[in-house]
Amino acid sequence: MSHVKIPLFAIKPESAIPFNLFRKEEDHYALVVEDGDIFPKNLSNLMLNYPNNEPCVYLHKKDKPKYYAYLENFLGKITQDTEVSVKEKSALIYDFAANTLDNLFQNPESKELMNRSKNLILNTINIIFAHDNSVKSMMEISSHDYYTYTHSVDVSLFSMGFVNYLNYSYDDMANIGYAALLHDIGKSKIPLEILNKKALLASDEFEIMKHHPKYGCEILQFHGEKNNDILNPVRHHHEKALGTGYPDKLIATKTHEFAKIIAIADIFSALTTKRSYKEAYSSFNALQLMKNDMLHDLDKHLFFEFVKFMTTISRQ
Ligand SMILES: [Fe+2]
Repeated sequence: MSHVKIPLFAIKPESAIPFNLFRKEEDHYALVVEDGDIFPKNLSNLMLNYPNNEPCVYLHKKDKPKYYAYLENFLGKITQDTEVSVKEKSALIYDFAANTLDNLFQNPESKELMNRSKNLILNTINIIFAHDNSVKSMMEISSHDYYTYTHSVDVSLFSMGFVNYLNYSYDDMANIGYAALLHDIGKSKIPLEILNKKALLASDEFEIMKHHPKYGCEILQFHGEKNNDILNPVRHHHEKALGTGYPDKLIATKTHEFAKIIAIADIFSALTTKRSYKEAYSSFNALQLMKNDMLHDLDKHLFFEFVKFMTTISRQ
């Protein structure tokens, strides 16, 4: 497919468009706005596409990076636009997040992508605050297949939704959202043959994989991060209550609360997505498995609050 569809509300009238925009016709894509031109005020009415008069625009696949850079400037406005539905906002922010993380995993030293990730969390919080059912709406979009980057977006979403449910502060939501989004960024330093292995890891491979929380913390420090509410959860999201986790073998009382929350969201997300060696569990079955087999590793109080949070979401 040479062209990709984007929603019309993502393009702001009277803004300069840094890529070509097309309308889909029966047998071709017709150029409507040329790279560098201003998107006219009333053009939205004409952007109806074959075959169902769907109001959207198309751009060349190769221009997607330019589209995400353009979109970043308007994300704040779009998330607060009362004419855009929560479903549409959720889909847009999820797509933006997945793209940002996909690129960040390939280029973790990028300052631009790191800033974009921070921005993204603040915009996601805007949506969560503005719409009661936004977490559910974003969860419904989330990928059922496992990719490191969509997994990161999901863990961030579950963690932010959960602390919002627990009435934590705005700053707490921002910090845990950002830490959860980047909790596995250290995997960008793990050899691809281990990262992409389509089977359970051998013990020597797992030893290498166990370095990723430490690498993640180092990447954040490389970017100047000093906030322990972000650094600690990234480093300690694989610690276990009895001190059997990694990398520092911390017991529960020594582990940051956000690390314990991210650990729960991380396991829940991994269980509810499909891997090459296992099917996806339903939310109910995932929570039941966590309760029966993993509770000794988790913070029990937080886990049962998480179950209540998921129950509340499923009833929305
Ligand atoms: Fe991890």
